[in-house]
Amino acid sequence: MLSAMDRLWINGRLATMTSDDLGIEEDGVVACCAGRIVYAGAAANGPSDAREVIDCEGRWITPGLIDCHTHLIHAGNRANEFAQRLAGASYAEIARAGGGILSTMRATRAASEEELIEQGLPRLDALIAEGVTTVEIKSGYGLELESELKMLRAARALSERRPISVTTTFLGAHMVPPGQDPDDYLDSVIAMLPEILPYADAVDAFCETIAFSAAQVDRLFAASPLPVKLHAEQLSNNGGTLIAGRHNALSADHLEYLDETGIAAMAAARTVAVLLPGAYYFTRETRKPPVEALHAAGVPIAIATDCNPGTAPLTSLLLVMNMAATLFGLSIEQCLIGVTRNAARALGRADEIGTLEGGKSCDLAIWNIDHPAELVYRIGFNPLHARIWRGQ
Ligand code: NIG
Ligand code: FE
Repeated sequence: MLSAMDRLWINGRLATMTSDDLGIEEDGVVACCAGRIVYAGAAANGPSDAREVIDCEGRWITPGLIDCHTHLIHAGNRANEFAQRLAGASYAEIARAGGGILSTMRATRAASEEELIEQGLPRLDALIAEGVTTVEIKSGYGLELESELKMLRAARALSERRPISVTTTFLGAHMVPPGQDPDDYLDSVIAMLPEILPYADAVDAFCETIAFSAAQVDRLFAASPLPVKLHAEQLSNNGGTLIAGRHNALSADHLEYLDETGIAAMAAARTVAVLLPGAYYFTRETRKPPVEALHAAGVPIAIATDCNPGTAPLTSLLLVMNMAATLFGLSIEQCLIGVTRNAARALGRADEIGTLEGGKSCDLAIWNIDHPAELVYRIGFNPLHARIWRGQ
């Protein structure tokens, strides 16, 4: 048994994330075999030898962080629109005038797959530098089959260039392309589903007055062979969370305008609430998601960067934790669970990642901190000591 152990991290202080109080083990070890955790817990009960023993010298070990909502693959940027918004234009106004998502659509359609990969890598590297070991990446700037496939292939290719797990989400229903009828375009998105199936792990849509109605999302989700997620109640309440609940969505994301009926639908379907404080901050939204009501209803809360060129040009999950605490009032524990255990759930991968537990992928972040609260507290400071992905 002992000789089968590849690696053993000793003298670690563990935040296993197995319980809402972070599942702390002050004198802990993590043992790994073939890329999986075989033991994580008190040193007294664990193995004491392995082929390689790494002394953590009292550093904290958390699960590798999970960024469960990004649009990391895209071409160009929208700094010009940021300037317009600073001069008074709203996000929705810019979108209606043909900018916004459509402006990134034009740049993304024009880029090759390799260019999308090259432009995505620095953003991915920024996440990796802070201990991210799994990232979700959406399509949605192609808005036609070939360009959507190009985005999904580029996203998957990132996991061949870097040591990180990538899950992909098809967001063909992000926006109606110029000159097309919304229902006709939605029909074409539904027709894309068999083609994208080999390249995507989930299907997402943008339910909003400037994008797709709840009825249209319902139609898409009913046709989806993959688990679904939804951008819902971000700029206004459109009842997207009711549709998310009806289709047992993995997550409903944003949620600033979520109401009681939406919360009840999410709670009944066990849908994760993914909060995106970076987008809230960057669009200068003033309405906050109903965090206390979500918590009271037992809806699990995850947080993510939403890394995208329009509402969140953001590649720091540590900063997102700080924002979730300062802007939305999440506790330290909710923030940390939100980028680990609950983020795994939002991806439908709670069996594989998100906690330090036997059987899970050995994805670890080892930190130079005295307490996990520091990960949420500091701004613009990265205390990562080491990052382990699948035991390496
Ligand atoms: O998550 N809400 C829709 N989609 C993105 C924004 C995309 C963009 O503006 O390019 C979001 O905020
Ligand atoms: Fe998003």
